[in-house]
Amino acid sequence: MTTGPSRHEPVLVEAVVEALRPCLDGLVVDGTAGLGGHTQALLDAGAARVIAIDLDPDAVRWLARRFQGDSRVQPVHASYADLPGLLGAKRPAGVLLDLGVSSRQLETADRGFSFRLEGPLDMRFDSTSGAPAARLVNRLPEADLAALLRKYGEERRARAVARRIVARRPLESTTELARVVAGAFPRRQRLHPATRTFQALRIATNEELEVLREGLAKAHRALREHGRLAVIAFHSLEDRVVKQTFRTWARNGDGEVLTRRPVRPGRSESRRNPRARSARLRVLAKAKGD
Ligand SMILES: C[S@@+](CC[C@H](N)C(=O)[O-])C[C@H]1O[C@@H](n2cnc3c(N)ncnc32)[C@H](O)[C@@H]1O
Repeated sequence: MTTGPSRHEPVLVEAVVEALRPCLDGLVVDGTAGLGGHTQALLDAGAARVIAIDLDPDAVRWLARRFQGDSRVQPVHASYADLPGLLGAKRPAGVLLDLGVSSRQLETADRGFSFRLEGPLDMRFDSTSGAPAARLVNRLPEADLAALLRKYGEERRARAVARRIVARRPLESTTELARVVAGAFPRRQRLHPATRTFQALRIATNEELEVLREGLAKAHRALREHGRLAVIAFHSLEDRVVKQTFRTWARNGDGEVLTRRPVRPGRSESRRNPRARSARLRVLAKAKGD
């Protein structure tokens, strides 16, 4: 579906624009363009050209409509890990990665990202390829499922959750899975008990951390000399990958980390946009071209 208003408020938008301001006269790649909130802000700040990439074909259709007739924007259905190949000879001055899931994806029940909305166990960013989350939920051996929940969800009750899931398989829907997971928790939790399980399944279904490691390296390779890479992470697993990768590059003389500490949203942004609360922006300037 490509109709309906965009309700996704881009996070840390001013900090992103400031980080990429020196790049706006060249090509900027918005590697996770989603509904185009950051792309729009970069254009408003004077960006000359933006390649707006997303892995979700629905998001790309949306971007094509939103920026129809604007010759500065080129929407592309791809993974940011397909850089630099998809750019040909072009070298971007800036690359932005705003990781995770968009509000629109979360709020579309049949994408299966939300444990609050009844939908299939899908969770793929690209619903045209790869296996849905149901494959992991219904086929993984119990020990492997527990390991996955521990590794990608940092779920302390991973064994109990995996045991309950396996005992009640096959599971068909998001809300059914959420109910089964909740049964593995003795008391009411502050966080919904299915939060960590859904995070883990989404990360594993899309191989998000592997794609992030590969995508960071590819983005760095694609950038022109002194080009900037800005990354917004939403949980500690992906932020750790960004932090360690940037540190390694800085140590090897391949770049300079411009954010000694990650940029976090202020109180008013967190209040206005709860999704922003866990956001952390890190920015690196590439040292030299290759
Ligand atoms: C948090 S949203 C981005 C929101 C966007 N910055 C905006 O202002 O509307 C993250 C987006 O990244 C996309 N995505 C996830 N993995 C991707 C990948 N490997 N390559 C490209 N896009 C990806 C998702 O489909 C989603 O639309």
